[in-house]
Amino acid sequence: MAAEYALQMVNIEKYFGRVCALRNVNIAIGSNEIVGLIGDNGAGKSTMVKVLTGVHRPTSGDMYIAGRKVDPRRYSVKRAHEYGIETVYQDKSLGEKQVLWRNFFIGRQVTLPFGFINVKKEKEIAQEIMLNTIGFRGRGITVDSKVSKLSGGERQGVAIGRAMHFEAELIVLDEPTVALSLKEVRKVLDFVHQIKVGGKACIYISHTITDVYEVADRFIVMDRGEIVGDIRKEDTSLQELDQYLLSYSHGLRDRAE
Ligand SMILES: Nc1ncnc2c1ncn2[C@@H]1O[C@H](COP(=O)(O)OP(=O)(O)OP(=O)(O)O)[C@@H](O)[C@H]1O
Ligand SMILES: [Mg+2]
Repeated sequence: MAAEYALQMVNIEKYFGRVCALRNVNIAIGSNEIVGLIGDNGAGKSTMVKVLTGVHRPTSGDMYIAGRKVDPRRYSVKRAHEYGIETVYQDKSLGEKQVLWRNFFIGRQVTLPFGFINVKKEKEIAQEIMLNTIGFRGRGITVDSKVSKLSGGERQGVAIGRAMHFEAELIVLDEPTVALSLKEVRKVLDFVHQIKVGGKACIYISHTITDVYEVADRFIVMDRGEIVGDIRKEDTSLQELDQYLLSYSHGLRDRAE
């Protein structure tokens, strides 16, 4: 039976030296829920995601993936993949100088007996993903093209296609649409709808509130390392949500500390 929650974080804290980047973070993401994670620059969104995906170890707190408690000492990016968590980062998620097909298999090679990488098989799978999952056609891009030749949208497509192919339970998109043309943004948003239809979960981080509003079932608002709002879509309008966020970025909601 599928777990009720794809992810739970309980009292997660993260310090970088003396800087507290996350404080008292409590989150539960349903197994088929799309959550928009929003808040100003430096609010802690990417840090939260990096804790979730095994890049950063939390200073304290507990994490549960699909109901199973995670041992922070054994948690890693690789382990996160094994748990079905895939991330598309704001900063580079693909190796620039690498050819495309290799990028599909970073950290999870298809091997032959004796541990050799099965290049032929990997290329075939990459080709499959490009044509059928992402819908890349023509324009001279092949599995042998270098990542540096791709546009921003195409790179997002590769990263997203990879997540889809490996049947992620929870896909994290951190600013996936920065610097994309409207048409390419549309593709990313359509993909998020696909995640919902496919019965999986997604955390969608973006400063473009209209995009977040379109795709998410619920909005979690962060401010200076803390969760300050948790709002279901049916309880707010786009305008209200926008106003609410503005009030934070203008410091109108400064809390007594
Ligand atoms: N590796 C690090 N070392 C030290 N401080 C860090 C590190 N990563 C993040 N921080 C700090 O933690 C805070 C939260 O940063 P984070 O990147 O999570 O914000 P964000 O909400 O993703 O912002 P943005 O919307 O600009 O991407 C910031 O004050 C940042 O400077
Ligand atoms: Mg960020």
